[in-house]
Amino acid sequence: MESNQLTLFDEYSEPLSDFSPVSKRIDVFAKFRYKAKPYCKRNWGNSLHSLCSYQGKLKPAIAHFLIKTMTNQGDRILDPFSGAGTIPLEACLQARFGHGVDINPLAHVNTLAKVTFPSHEAIYDFRNRLSRYIDQYLVAESELTQVQLNNINGRLQDYFHPDTFAEIVTARKFFSTIDQHTPASAFVESCLLHILHGNRPYALSRRSHGLTPFSPTGPFKYKQLLSHLDAKIQRAMRAQMPKSYVHGSAYLCSVFDFMAEQQYDAIITSPPFLNSTRFYIANWIRLWFCGWEKNDFKPTKRGDYLEEMQAKSITVYEKVFLKFLNLLKPGGLCVLHLGVKGRRDMGKELIPQAEKTGFEVLRLLYEDVSLCENHGVRDQGSTNKHQFLFLQAPTFISK
Ligand SMILES: C[S@@+](CC[C@H](N)C(=O)[O-])C[C@H]1O[C@@H](n2cnc3c(N)ncnc32)[C@H](O)[C@@H]1O
Repeated sequence: MESNQLTLFDEYSEPLSDFSPVSKRIDVFAKFRYKAKPYCKRNWGNSLHSLCSYQGKLKPAIAHFLIKTMTNQGDRILDPFSGAGTIPLEACLQARFGHGVDINPLAHVNTLAKVTFPSHEAIYDFRNRLSRYIDQYLVAESELTQVQLNNINGRLQDYFHPDTFAEIVTARKFFSTIDQHTPASAFVESCLLHILHGNRPYALSRRSHGLTPFSPTGPFKYKQLLSHLDAKIQRAMRAQMPKSYVHGSAYLCSVFDFMAEQQYDAIITSPPFLNSTRFYIANWIRLWFCGWEKNDFKPTKRGDYLEEMQAKSITVYEKVFLKFLNLLKPGGLCVLHLGVKGRRDMGKELIPQAEKTGFEVLRLLYEDVSLCENHGVRDQGSTNKHQFLFLQAPTFISK
């Protein structure tokens, strides 16, 4: 196995073909300048990437170049920890079939909206159903006072003007009646989830933060849900989808329970970093909107989240890699975006787990992120280096 630092070259121009060997692909990926403008900007790329804020979201440019260099058009790509859907979306934009799995309902709704971008007609139809429901449903006082969460950063009721809160509770009830999301319902819900809290005029909350709901400040001002939602929908619908865009799919379940109908050419993913974000707490207001109740936030209820499992033992990755082998075609590629935090070098810790299951370790690349922008939130914890671990499944997998 080789290990080397990422080197920044002036040009990203080396040609690759469908038959380029994997070592050349990694060389080309290692040269791209994602720390330089314009790639370093978090909003680089298709505007659909900004559909809804999500902690720990990968920079779209990184996802773009991983897909571009490591896979071919028509490939089936899986991200089993899809988060906001950055990797599956980049796959779909580049004529690969992007599929995402995530255990977190907020991540699921985001990923689904991005890999199945709906028609404008379907979006308006669904938005009108929501509007009729809000007009007709008379929310009872008890429904508003009943909402009791764990006061993670203040009470939920403290974030909103009471009339805005009543509309939010009604909209949440409407979404709870949906058995299975359609592309349009996922798109509209993602738009609504995005505007729930923030420090900009689009947000329904008092002044807070768009990524993490920090305790709110400022006056309680009524903000009508539908007019704010319509403005967000209009902005999101302006996304320009290239001709190469194809639809993928999204599944709401733990990676360990995921059964694929067909195997994948590549798994490209970014699992939770060690000792970093607990995704179910970081997004508590948005998760409440997705249907979670007070008890759902307890770590004991969240034992199937990888961030909880890996805190107990890194050996859980043996189980993860066995699952990956099951999901990949023989010889399929697996790329993991990881982090170094303090003395914990996740890439190095994962290598023995991967080798135990039969993966060949191709390379571990490092990227220094200590100077990266942090948007006012230290969402990277003290992660000071990011890494890319490149693995390959054996050509013949003994069953
Ligand atoms: C670092 S985030 C992925 C971020 C993503 N690459 C993006 O750009 O938004 C890790 C994700 O793993 C998910 N996750 C944690 N445990 C999981 C499990 N057992 N199965 C599937 N997803 C899981 C979390 O909900 C979180 O969304």
